[in-house]
Amino acid sequence: MVHNRKSFSLEEYKISPFMIGTMRLGQWGSKMNASEIEKFIEGCIALDLIDFDHADIYGSYTTESDFGAVLKKRPDLRNQMRITTKCGIRIVSKNRPEHQIKSYDLTKDHIKRSVENSLLALHTDHIDTLLLHRPDFLFDPQEIARAFTALEKEGKVKNFGVSNFSISQCELLQEIFPLCTHQVEISLLHREAFENGILDQCQKWGITPTAWSPLGGGVLLNSSEDRNIAELQKKITLLAEKYHAQPDQVLLAWLRKHPAGIVSVLGTSKLSRIKNAKDSLKINLTHEEWYMLWQAATGTEIA
Ligand SMILES: NC(=O)c1ccc[n+]([C@@H]2O[C@H](COP(=O)([O-])OP(=O)(O)OC[C@H]3O[C@@H](n4cnc5c(N)ncnc54)[C@H](OP(=O)(O)O)[C@@H]3O)[C@@H](O)[C@H]2O)c1
Repeated sequence: MVHNRKSFSLEEYKISPFMIGTMRLGQWGSKMNASEIEKFIEGCIALDLIDFDHADIYGSYTTESDFGAVLKKRPDLRNQMRITTKCGIRIVSKNRPEHQIKSYDLTKDHIKRSVENSLLALHTDHIDTLLLHRPDFLFDPQEIARAFTALEKEGKVKNFGVSNFSISQCELLQEIFPLCTHQVEISLLHREAFENGILDQCQKWGITPTAWSPLGGGVLLNSSEDRNIAELQKKITLLAEKYHAQPDQVLLAWLRKHPAGIVSVLGTSKLSRIKNAKDSLKINLTHEEWYMLWQAATGTEIA
């Protein structure tokens, strides 16, 4: 059964040129306190970067609550942002004592319960975009579509997407329920999406690909004993000099060059680096420069 969404139009799906990742803001990273999170949110909004990327599991199920505590105090901020969150991974945590082992779960019950938990934690009445964090090998697309349809009808979730799905898994779901976005790992360190068809699929369907760990989780910027990475960093420095830019800006410009319109999910907790990212929109690498970085990253000339 195809789940028609009368109110749905891909053209109306909006996303900023960069998303703000929250994975490292709390317990899994910089451990910001409430006033630091508040300033961080204000700074991002002032830059017109209003899409915040969460997942229920971040900070072992605590980061949504840390962020939500700020929204409780400052509901005006909620009105100025869009919230993406994810569900479907169950990690072992003292905050979820019922989880015996790590597993994936995309049953209707788990999806619906996760959304209820996220709404409570984030102090909001709706999620702008819900992503299925990882494919559950046991997933039934009809069951997922029923969960999505119910959440949409209840006004709890506006848009739906996936993360880390294969081409065929996306097809299974997209055929019965329209998706808006696919979040995958893409960077000069992880280039699979350029070759495995995921970006082609996004272009074909007109859905937005978002890139997690666009800087390779920081690996591409820190000194490395890996020869390929060190060689790549030399080329990045060359281009940074040419464009009077920082290396992270070159890495983000490299992702943006792809016609699928990749939106990077920034992982920094520093506003100065968010500002740099925004400024990287001015950089338009040439075709040859794009390949120069690709070849440096792979360590081989293309065929
Ligand atoms: N869907 C999924 O499965 C999935 C998986 C992982 C992550 N995500 C999402 O993607 C977001 C981004 O992932 P990520 O944090 O791995 O992204 P990233 O931007 O590749 O890496 C961020 C890390 O790089 C460091 N960094 C940034 N700029 C730097 C610079 N100029 N020099 C040195 N280090 C620098 C940051 O440290 P500072 O804070 O000090 O700048 C931070 O530790 C997450 O927040 C999350 O929302 C999704």
